[in-house]
Amino acid sequence: MIILFTSVKGGVGKSSIAFNLAAYVNYTYVTNDIVAIDDDTAIQIEPKKRRIPVQLSSEPDIVFDFGAMSTQIDPKVSHALNICDVVVIPTMTDPRSLQATIDTVNFAKEANKPIAIIINNFTNPKKCNQARQHLIRNLGRLPIFAIRYTTLFERVSRDGRDWIQNIHNDNGEHQLNKTRIAHEAIYDEILRLGGAE
Ligand SMILES: Nc1ncnc2c1ncn2[C@@H]1O[C@H](COP(=O)(O)OP(=O)(O)OP(=O)(O)O)[C@@H](O)[C@H]1O
Ligand SMILES: [Mg+2]
Repeated sequence: MIILFTSVKGGVGKSSIAFNLAAYVNYTYVTNDIVAIDDDTAIQIEPKKRRIPVQLSSEPDIVFDFGAMSTQIDPKVSHALNICDVVVIPTMTDPRSLQATIDTVNFAKEANKPIAIIINNFTNPKKCNQARQHLIRNLGRLPIFAIRYTTLFERVSRDGRDWIQNIHNDNGEHQLNKTRIAHEAIYDEILRLGGAE
């Protein structure tokens, strides 16, 4: 399955969530970020490349993490939209992020792929709900998930795929493990949207 994480907005959690999802299902993680998560398994595509390299587009299981850039959409985003099974757009709850998310959905819609939104990095459940209502008012019904502020992503970006795949309940990691399990329930829903059994 090919999963595309994208948004015209930067800093919304694309790389964090995409990398963790890839680690969960053991997919290849591919990014157009110049600064990638420090992990041997992460693949970076040079910004000047307009297409996804052929070796990659023939790979069956990929998570693409493609920042789109608001003034000029990276052509790799359009390419990925055509070959993916599901699109995931993370957003924060502030008005600028929400507007960028609406714009990104409207752009991605043309490819006719299932789209999910993740309200990410919130601390106040009321703000999360307001963001959800705003998105539904502007976009109609679509799957919207929510991920709270967590130190898990920082930990994974430091310690990599190995750490998250071998997280254990001792050493004070009980809370992080609970967070991981909550995230995995969302990842399962995304895989289902993409057509997994
Ligand atoms: N749920 C969260 N809880 C805490 N911190 C988070 C969360 N999501 C993202 N962050 C932090 O926010 C920052 C931006 O996240 P990330 O790099 O994943 O976003 P991005 O959309 O890939 O950004 P860019 O557009 O720059 O590539 C990172 O420092 C990350 O650790
Ligand atoms: Mg990123």
